[in-house]
Amino acid sequence: METTLLILKPDAVQRGLMGRIITRFEEKGLQIVGAKLTMISPETAATHYMDHAGKGFYPGLVGFMTSAPVLILAVRGIGAITICRNLMGATFGSKAAAGTIRGDFGVSNSFNLIHGSDSPEAAARELGIFFGAGEVLEYTRAGDRWVYDSSSGKPE
Ligand code: RTP
Ligand code: MG
Repeated sequence: METTLLILKPDAVQRGLMGRIITRFEEKGLQIVGAKLTMISPETAATHYMDHAGKGFYPGLVGFMTSAPVLILAVRGIGAITICRNLMGATFGSKAAAGTIRGDFGVSNSFNLIHGSDSPEAAARELGIFFGAGEVLEYTRAGDRWVYDSSSGKPE
């Protein structure tokens, strides 16, 4: 099982798309194991996006991410990091494929609705930025036995 960090960005919250975006992940069979509606401070945004410091788009990115509330999610499943990135689509709304979140709900390259961790290392780091001890939950959903085939003894 992998747990990944998603952020529904200010444009997703302001445009009333939170429910429709969360539904994409739930419908896929992924489990929401943490959720927090919050404002990101400039310091936290800088920590989160430290790999992009110094790039031309960085000041605008930090300004955007700190401009209005965001919804932080922890999402769990087998292969959750790659599955979430695929559901999100390519970075730029103008290029993202139809059927993806960025492809279906936006046209902007900077207001691109959602962030998702891009590696296990990034997921661990980013979950640690936004969630404290005990805020990412372990629980069983009644329908999980129909999400994964566990007949071999190993869910797949
Ligand atoms: P994210 O980190 O937000 O999930 O997006 P990503 O992995 O698809 O893209 P990344 O390369 O990490 O870029 C982070 C965010 O910076 C903005 N960006 N603007 N103008 C540009 O060339 C440019 N490149 C990136 C986007 O908002 C992107 O989500
Ligand atoms: Mg990224």
